[in-house]
Amino acid sequence: MRLVKYEVCPVQSLTENRGTTKPLGEQGKCTLFLYQGKVYALGHLCPHQNAPLDGAPVENGQVVCNRHGYCYKLGTGSCSTLGGYALPRYPVEIENGMVIVTVREF
Ligand code: FES
Repeated sequence: MRLVKYEVCPVQSLTENRGTTKPLGEQGKCTLFLYQGKVYALGHLCPHQNAPLDGAPVENGQVVCNRHGYCYKLGTGSCSTLGGYALPRYPVEIENGMVIVTVREF
C-alpha cells in the first residue's frame, strides 16, 4: 500500500456548499465540498443506491443526497440518517490554491 497525492483542481473552481465531482487519479473520482472555508473530499456515489453526489448540497455540515435525502457528515463521511452507511473520505491539502487529495493505492 502506498499513499499517492493527486492535484485535483483549483479551490476557486468549487462552489460553496455544493458538491463537485472530479477525477481522482486514473480510474477514480471524488466529490469535493467547500464548506466554511475548508475543502472536504468524499466518495462520489451515495452508498444507499449509488446516486451521484455531484451537485449535492451541504446543510449544517452534512452532505444531503439528492435522491432520498440521506445525510453524511463532512468530517467523517458517516451517515447520520441510517447506521451502516458511510462515504469514503480522503485527506485534503491546499497548495498554491490547488486542492491536493491523498489516496491509498495498493
Ligand atoms: S441514493 Fe442517496 S439517499 Fe438513496
